[in-house]
Amino acid sequence: MYKINDNYQKLPGSYLFSNIAKKVAAFSEQNPDADIIRLGIGDVTQPIAPAMIEAMHKAVDEMADAKTFRGYAPDLGYPFLREAIAEKDYKARGCDIDISEIFVSDGAKSDSGNIQEIFAQDNRIAVCDPVYPVYVDSNVMAGRTGVYNEKTQMWSNVIYMPCTAENNFVPEFPKETPDIIYLCLPNNPTGTTLTKDQLQMWVDYANKNGAIIIYDAAYEAYISEDNVAHSIYECEGAKTCAIELRSFSKNAGFTGVRLGFTVVPKDIKCAGVSLNSMWARRHGTKFNGAPYIVQRAGEAVYSDAGQAQIKEQVGYYMNNAKVIYTGLKDAGYQVFGGVNAPYIWLKTPENMTSWDFFDFLLEKANVVGTPGSGFGPSGEGYFRLTAFGSYENSVRALERIKAL
Ligand code: MLT
Repeated sequence: MYKINDNYQKLPGSYLFSNIAKKVAAFSEQNPDADIIRLGIGDVTQPIAPAMIEAMHKAVDEMADAKTFRGYAPDLGYPFLREAIAEKDYKARGCDIDISEIFVSDGAKSDSGNIQEIFAQDNRIAVCDPVYPVYVDSNVMAGRTGVYNEKTQMWSNVIYMPCTAENNFVPEFPKETPDIIYLCLPNNPTGTTLTKDQLQMWVDYANKNGAIIIYDAAYEAYISEDNVAHSIYECEGAKTCAIELRSFSKNAGFTGVRLGFTVVPKDIKCAGVSLNSMWARRHGTKFNGAPYIVQRAGEAVYSDAGQAQIKEQVGYYMNNAKVIYTGLKDAGYQVFGGVNAPYIWLKTPENMTSWDFFDFLLEKANVVGTPGSGFGPSGEGYFRLTAFGSYENSVRALERIKAL
C-alpha cells in the first residue's frame, strides 16, 4: 500500500492567492455587476515590451526551420543569456559572478520552492514575518518545519523575524541561530527594503554563524534609492554564504512566459561539498531548461532597446505605487513601502483584522488586496496593495478607498 507525503497534510488551508481568487470569484458570482479592481496578487498588467516580443517572434521562426530549430535547451541555460546576465546584472555592478554560477530556470517561484531540496532535513530556517508564503510552505512539504500552532500561526521549528512598523521592517538577528535564512529584498509583501549596510550585516552574520542566505531579489528593478544593493554580491563576503534568486516576471512582465535564474557561487562549500555542483546535479536531473523562445526574450531584456523599454514599464508601475501611497496617506492611512518596490503596505484602519479589511474593501469598494496575515502572524493588522494594476485602475481604486 502506497503512502503519501504526510507533510502535505500539515499545510494549513490552501495557497494564499488561490484562497483569495476563490473568495473574489464567489463575490463576483453573487454581485455580477460589481466592477472589481484587482490589486491583490502581484501580477503584471502591461504587455511585454516590443524588443522582447520581437525576439520571441524571431525565435519562433527559427523553430520552424530545420537549420535553426532547437530541441532541449542546455540544462543550465543558453550561454547567450547567461553571458548577458553575468555582464549586465553582475559585472556592471562590480560583482564577480561567472556564467558557471548562473542557472536559468522557469522563474524564481520554482527556484525559491526547490532550493531547499539540497539542504538536510534538520536545518533550521529563519524567515521574515510577514513572508512570501512559498519559502515556508516548501519547507513544510519537506518536513522541516515541525508542528503548526493554529493559535500563533507559527511552526515550532521555524525562526520568525518580525518585520513591523515598530522595527521599521528591519529584521533583527534572531536569538536562536538559524542554518538557512530567507531574505526577500526589496521585500514582498511589505514593499520595504534594507540599505546596503544593513544587508552587509546579514552577510557578516551568515558567514560568522555558518548559515546560508537564500536571497530573493525578484524586485531589484524597482530599487530607486542609491544606498540599496541590487544584488547581495555587492556585499563583501556574500559569495561564501548567499544564493541569489532573480526573476524576469516583475522587471520585464514575464509572469506568463516564465523565466528566472539562480546564482550559486562556487565559493559556497559545506564540509567541502560544492553547492554549485549539487544544484547543477539537481537542475540536470529534474529540469530540461527554460524554452529557447523565452530565453531569447530574456536576452533581449539586456539589449539597449530592451533596457529602455523595461525601465519605462517599471517607471509606469512605480508611478502607480506613488498614486496609491500618496492617496492612502491623504486618506489618513499609515502607509509603508512603495519606494523601492511595487507593493504598498498599510495598517488596517480601526484595528480591523487583515481579513475583515479584505472583506470590507471588496464589499464596499470592490477593490481586491491581500490580507497581511496571509503572509504570517506579524502581518496581522496590515494589508498589501500592488502597483501592478493599470494607472487608471490604481487611480479609480484610490478614489473609491478615499470615499469610504
Ligand atoms: C505576489 O503577489 O506575492 C506575487 O505575485 C507572488 C509571486 O511572485 O509568485
